[in-house]
Amino acid sequence: MTITNKRYQQGTRMLERAERIIPLGAQTFSRSRVQFPVGHAPMFLESGAGGRVWDLDGNEYIDLICGLLSVILGYRDPDVDRAICQQLEKGISFSMATALEVELAERLTRIIPCAEMVRFGKNGSDVTTAAVRLARAVTGRKRIAASGYHGWHDWYIGATNRNLGVPPEVATLTHKFPYNDIEALDQLFRSHPEEFAAVIMEPMNTVEPYDGYMEEVQALAKENGALFILDEIITGFRFAMGGAQQLFGVTPDLATFGKSMGNGMPIAALVGKVEYMRSFEDIFFSTTFGGETLSLAAAIAVIDKIEREPVIDNIWHKGARLADTVQAQINGCGLSDVITIAGRPCWKILQFHDHPAADRNVIKTFFLTSMIAEGVLINASHNLCYAHSKADLLRVEKAYSVTLERLSECLKKGNLVEVLDAPVVRPVFAVR
Ligand SMILES: Cc1ncc(COP(=O)(O)O)c(C=O)c1O
Repeated sequence: MTITNKRYQQGTRMLERAERIIPLGAQTFSRSRVQFPVGHAPMFLESGAGGRVWDLDGNEYIDLICGLLSVILGYRDPDVDRAICQQLEKGISFSMATALEVELAERLTRIIPCAEMVRFGKNGSDVTTAAVRLARAVTGRKRIAASGYHGWHDWYIGATNRNLGVPPEVATLTHKFPYNDIEALDQLFRSHPEEFAAVIMEPMNTVEPYDGYMEEVQALAKENGALFILDEIITGFRFAMGGAQQLFGVTPDLATFGKSMGNGMPIAALVGKVEYMRSFEDIFFSTTFGGETLSLAAAIAVIDKIEREPVIDNIWHKGARLADTVQAQINGCGLSDVITIAGRPCWKILQFHDHPAADRNVIKTFFLTSMIAEGVLINASHNLCYAHSKADLLRVEKAYSVTLERLSECLKKGNLVEVLDAPVVRPVFAVR
C-alpha cells in the first residue's frame, strides 16, 4: 500500500499491519475499508470527547457516526463514566446475578410501552435472535417476515446477499418484505398459511410510515397468529424515550433495544409481554456476559440522564436545523437530484443518486473524502449526540458547503471520476 495522503499516514500504516492478522482490518463492515476510502479516511480512532474524535495521526473530527449510533450522550460523558468507574471499584462480572439487572429492567418496564419483562444481551443481534427464537418457540412455527436490518445471525443474514456460510435450509425461512407495502406482507402470509412465527421490523428508517401502516402490520400479524416484534435497536432512546412504539402509539408483542442504551457500552435488551417472555424460563438464551455490570451501570446512568435532561429534544432540534441547512445548501448547489435527505431529524439518512457524470458510489466516495478532509467524520447519516455543540455543527455546515460546491463543479465539468483519487466504496448490502 503506497501512502499518498500524509494526513492519514499512521492510520493507513496501521491498516496495513491490521490486515495481516485481522480480516478486513476491522470488526464491523461499517467501520472497514468496504465503507471508507483507504488513504482518504482515518481508518483508526484513538480518543473522543463530547461530539469529537481524534485519529492516530492526531486529526480532529466532528463525529457524525457516533459509534454507529451507540454514543447518544457524547464521548466520555461524565455521568456515565462516573457510573462505570464506581462499578469498576466493585467488580465487573460475578458468579451470580446482581441487583443492577433488576434496577435496569425496572427502568425499562417503566418507560417502554410493551416492556413487561426484560432480558439482556451484549449486541443488537443477540436480542433480535432471542426474539425470533422466542416467537418460534411460542408459536411452534418456523417462518419469519422481516423488514430492515436485524444483525449478523443466520436467521436474518441468510435472507440477504451477504449470506455466505448460511445453510439454505435456514435462509429460506426468513422472508424480507418491503416497508409501507401491506399487500406484500399479506401476500407472504397467504402463500404460507399458518407458518409465520413473527413479523419483525424496524419501525422506521428512511421512509415515513403511511398513516395506519404500523397498526395494519400489527393487525395482520395477529390475524395470522404471528408475533409482532419491533426492532428498536436504533430508534430506542432516540426517536423517543420509550422508542418509536411510543412515538407512533403502537405497542408490539416484543421489542429489541441496544445501541444508545449504554452510550457505547455493549448492552442490548429484549423486552415484551409477560405471556411470551416467561417462556425464557425454558428457552435457551444464556451467555457468560449477559449480566456484566459495567454496561448495566452505564445503561442506568444513560437512562437517568435522558430522563433528567432534554437529551432527545435536543438531538431532534439540532438534527432538524442541520438537515434544513444542508438541504438549502444542496438546493443552492443544484444537487437536489444527486443527494436527498430522508428520515426523522434525530437520524437523518443521506441517499446518493446516479448522475450522468458519475454513479452514486463514486459520488458518495467523493463526498466522504471531502467531508473527512474538512474534519467531519461521516458515513451516510447524521448520527447526532447530546454533546454536539453549536460550534461542532457550524463546522459540519462549513464542511458541507465546501464539499457540495466541489461536487457540483466536478459534476458540471464531468470530471468527478478523474478527480476522485480514492478507492470507490460500495454498500455492504442494500438494506435501507
Ligand atoms: C435495526 C438494527 N437491528 C439490529 C442490529 C444489530 O445490532 P448489533 O450490530 O449490535 O448486533 C442493528 C445494527 O446496526 C440495527 O441497526
